[in-house]
Amino acid sequence: MTNGREAARPPVANMPSIEQVNTLIRERRTIKPGDMSDDEVDRSLVDLILENANWAPTHGLTEPWRFRIFAGESRRQLAHALSGIYTEVTPREKFLESKHKKLSTLPLKSNVAILVWMKRQDIRKIPEIEEVEAVACAIQNMHLTASALGLAGFWSSPEVLYTPRMNEWMEIESEDRCLGVFYVGWPKEALDWPTSTRRPVAEKTVWVE
Ligand SMILES: Cc1cc2nc3c(=O)[nH]c(=O)nc-3n(C[C@H](O)[C@H](O)[C@H](O)COP(=O)(O)O)c2cc1C
Repeated sequence: MTNGREAARPPVANMPSIEQVNTLIRERRTIKPGDMSDDEVDRSLVDLILENANWAPTHGLTEPWRFRIFAGESRRQLAHALSGIYTEVTPREKFLESKHKKLSTLPLKSNVAILVWMKRQDIRKIPEIEEVEAVACAIQNMHLTASALGLAGFWSSPEVLYTPRMNEWMEIESEDRCLGVFYVGWPKEALDWPTSTRRPVAEKTVWVE
C-alpha cells in the first residue's frame, strides 16, 4: 500500500508503543506446569489477569466468560474431577494410565488453575460460535497479561472438558461450554523463556484483486 497513514498518534494516553505490542504478542509463550515453580502467585496478579480477560470483545455485550479458580488445596478438587471424569468417560480399550496420571497431577504442578467456561446467553440471540470466540479472546488476554508479568501460562484443553459429565460436575447448564484450564505459575528459575516459530503469514493470506 502506498500513501496510507503509516503511523498514527496513540488515541489515548499510556498506549504501549507498537514495538511493545509486537513484543508482547510475539513473545507470549506456552509454559507448562512441569516448568512452573512452587512459588505463590499473588492474588493481585490473578485479579489483574481476570480483569484483562474481562475486557475481551463480546458481541452484544453478553460477556460470556466465566472463571473458576483453583488455588492451594482446592487444586486437588480439580485434579480429582479431571482424572475421575476421564476414567468414567473413556472406553476401557482407550484408557491410558499416562493420561490419567497427567490429569491428576497437572493442577498440582501449577500455582493457580483457572477453569474457563462459556455461559450461554438465556435468549440465545448471539450464535454459539461467537460466544466461544469471545471466551477464546478472553483467554488470550489472560495469556498476554501473564506473559507481560513474566508468569508462565498454559491453555490446556483435555477432551474431558467437552463432555456432558464435566458440565454436570461443574453444575452448569448443558449448553454452557467448558473451554479450557488456564494454568498459571512462576517459571522455574533455571528456565529460559521459550522461543517459538510461525510460518509466514503471507502463506495464509490472499489480497483480493
Ligand atoms: C484452543 C487451544 C487449546 C489448547 N490446548 C492445548 C492442550 O490441551 N495441550 C497442549 O499441550 N497445548 C494446548 N494449547 C497450546 C498450544 O499447544 C500452543 O499454543 C502452541 O504449542 C504454540 O505455542 P505458544 O503458545 O508458545 O505460541 C492450546 C491452544 C489453544 C489455542
